Amino acid sequence: MIAEGTRGRRRPVGEITRGTTGHNRLRRSDRWVTAVYGPLLRSAPRPLVVDLGYGASPVTTSEMFARLRRVRPDVEVVGVEIDPIRVAVARAHEREGLSFVLGGFELPVARPPLIVRAFNVLRQYGEAQAWQAWDLLRDRLAPGGVIVEGTCSEIGHRAAWVALDARGPRTLTLSTRLTGFTRPSDLAERLPKTLIHRNVPGERVHAFLRDFDHAWDVAAPYGAYGQRSRWIAAVERLTADWPVATAPPLGGRARWRLGELTIPWDALAPER
Ligand SMILES: C[S@@+](CC[C@H](N)C(=O)[O-])C[C@H]1O[C@@H](n2cnc3c(N)ncnc32)[C@H](O)[C@@H]1O
Repeated sequence: MIAEGTRGRRRPVGEITRGTTGHNRLRRSDRWVTAVYGPLLRSAPRPLVVDLGYGASPVTTSEMFARLRRVRPDVEVVGVEIDPIRVAVARAHEREGLSFVLGGFELPVARPPLIVRAFNVLRQYGEAQAWQAWDLLRDRLAPGGVIVEGTCSEIGHRAAWVALDARGPRTLTLSTRLTGFTRPSDLAERLPKTLIHRNVPGERVHAFLRDFDHAWDVAAPYGAYGQRSRWIAAVERLTADWPVATAPPLGGRARWRLGELTIPWDALAPER
């Protein structure tokens, strides 16, 4: 159970967990956020973006800040971290538009955020806690806002993330370096906490990954033209049976060629 502070004392909501992070680890999701939510960032008044749980070093927050500023030059980014030592370390990296504060899922920021990015944070919680955290974060969003919650490998070559709005989870995205896997189901190890334990026979996410592996096998001849061609062919085949996004900004060849695929959450949602 995720609990707010007791006896009137406000303490950050959540738990300090491992702080592993690294340069460019979240490049894939940054690229996706700027492509998919660039119009949202550009159109919002005074957009605020939160990077929740940035870890032992604020490097991924600084990288996200630089990438988002190319889309919206006055965007403000706040790194929120539950470990006070990590906040003290990060403060040396503050600059105009980029700041770091102590906090948790309650998001102690000056106004509702338009985007909340939380990567490699919820994987260290239980499945029920992850659902609770989603609910808490959704309540904090600015109108039209989104949460991008995901998990990736140590150096970010394999990743999966969910985008949620105020109503709930909307999409799941898988993203991989094209030389970084053997079969699409290798990405299962990066599924968000709310899905990873559901990758068992009888659950939709399991059927989806099984069909993706089959499409990958059938697309083997395209491997002669490289992994990129094979990935695109496999995803195109998958669209016959699954509602994979096929049009920009979420889908289509321009996204697939990056080793990406996005599918509506409802197609994979577990029974709760
Ligand atoms: C593995 S690091 C992830 C760092 C970075 N986001 C990345 O993906 O490279 C997870 C961080 O989340 C922090 N954390 C865990 N729960 C949190 C919460 N409820 N609020 C804020 N930070 C939290 C931990 O203290 C830790 O520093």
